[in-house]
Amino acid sequence: MRPNVPDTPAWNALVEHAEELGEFDLRAAFAADPERASAMTVDGADLTLDYSKHLVTADTMSLLVALATEADVEGHRAAMFGGEHINATEDRAVLHTALRAPADVSMSDAADSGENVVDDVHDVLDRMAATATRIRDGEWLGHSGESIRTVINIGIGGSDLGPVMATAALAAFTADHLDTRFVSNVDGDDLGEALRGVDLARTLFIVASKTFTTQETLANAGEARARLVEYFDGDDSAVAAHFLALSTNAEGVAAFGIDTDNMFGFWDWVGGRYSLDSAIGMSLMIAIGPEAFRAMLAGFRAMDEHFLNAPLERNLPVLMGVLGVWYRNLLGLSTLAVLPYVNDLARFPAYLQQLDMESNGKRIRLDGEPVVGETGPIVWGEPGTNGQHAFYQLLHQGTTVVPADFIGVLQPHHDIGEHHDLLMANLFAQTEALAFGKTADEVRAEGVAEHLVAHKTFPGNRPTSTLIAPKLSPHLLGQLVALYEHKVFVQGVIWGINSFDQWGVELGKVLAKRLVAEIQADDPAPVTSHDSSTNALVERYRAARRARLG
Ligand code: F6P
Repeated sequence: MRPNVPDTPAWNALVEHAEELGEFDLRAAFAADPERASAMTVDGADLTLDYSKHLVTADTMSLLVALATEADVEGHRAAMFGGEHINATEDRAVLHTALRAPADVSMSDAADSGENVVDDVHDVLDRMAATATRIRDGEWLGHSGESIRTVINIGIGGSDLGPVMATAALAAFTADHLDTRFVSNVDGDDLGEALRGVDLARTLFIVASKTFTTQETLANAGEARARLVEYFDGDDSAVAAHFLALSTNAEGVAAFGIDTDNMFGFWDWVGGRYSLDSAIGMSLMIAIGPEAFRAMLAGFRAMDEHFLNAPLERNLPVLMGVLGVWYRNLLGLSTLAVLPYVNDLARFPAYLQQLDMESNGKRIRLDGEPVVGETGPIVWGEPGTNGQHAFYQLLHQGTTVVPADFIGVLQPHHDIGEHHDLLMANLFAQTEALAFGKTADEVRAEGVAEHLVAHKTFPGNRPTSTLIAPKLSPHLLGQLVALYEHKVFVQGVIWGINSFDQWGVELGKVLAKRLVAEIQADDPAPVTSHDSSTNALVERYRAARRARLG
């Protein structure tokens, strides 16, 4: 069966190649070529990618790179870095790479007569650094004159996942005397728990919202503000010393009651899921300090430079991008597991879910036509070795093949006992077992009873990338995030979609607004305006709500 992919020379060559390749066998491929691992290992900045355990030959990779060339990844890359409005459905430039550009680099929104946005980026960074330093040094005083001990970031999606992920990833670099908490969910239990035990006199709230219209964030920020004012006996002026805002919407910030002197801005050319390295990273900067934050930005930049300059066949984001296309479009595999053998990267898969799935979960191309074939994968994962004791059974013996990215570092922060050896041994063991499995004959040779042989056989040929880095530092984290940003970009270009809008989140938001009004209406008449399922669910909740509120 021909996979359902576009009819262009490079696609057609790949389809033919996939058919010829048939059942690819990693054991045979490694046996036939002792140089396979070295030929398929590539460095980019401080990261090393070993993609030799993928179901590909050198020819596959050449054809995939030819596909990237045919899709004009290089032209699109130049357009992105050049500030062209590649986010066409929102008529916006996509310039998150300007957020980590050194001060002597000039970048501009192509529609904005060449004004250098990098100057604005550095102005905001300098202001952030000055404020973060005052907070860290105990010089920023709360309304009653006490220094800050707890920072609570209130935001959701891109205004939460990046700082949450990075604060955990860089835990080893965070200040001991500051407690950083995050509130995202409109479930009151999230805010309730975040406020548990905090001394409001020593708490700084950071309201992070690109649009400053997001229902969940405004509900949480409004409640936090009310609690603070109540704590200070109704004195509204306390807000100035306890609230910062991170946003592109100065009017919304002012309307909410936060002085715009306490606002750190960014721009509509920064997508929410690409905003960790903008003002949205303020809670992280306070936690790790401006110097470490700038080191992270330099890491982002190092990967940007690799993406810009390395030839496509040795370009990490391109290689990871085209491998994803191979599995999604040619082999029909729908998910990607990201499995960090770095516990501090526990939230990295969740971060990547938004980055990848909100960017490439699209079914209409930029030209308005439906896509042909599949687009973005379902991204999921948990740190190893924990995942091994949960879902790896399916990875090894399930009926679904799951391509996976394994991520490991050579140096731990806490060099405890033989822990790091055990951790890395597990990483290598898993990719080896997934690739080469265990044949029925090998199982039999161990004397296993015949009725158990099939149960104990491992099919192998389960594809993985191994990404190795020296140590999880701010610089390395920046590289890692930029690597995945650019991987997602490469795939979006090949699929012809806009990776930078997110219309798919809108319908639910609109319906939720309507439902809130219906749920809270005094009218006792039953709700009938929806389908029978939704009507009944709303009615059930309204009855419980009446009982709850009396
Ligand atoms: O609903 C999706 C979304 O728009 C994301 O793209 C964004 O990161 C998140 O909501 C939060 O948006 P904001 O930063 O504007 O509050």
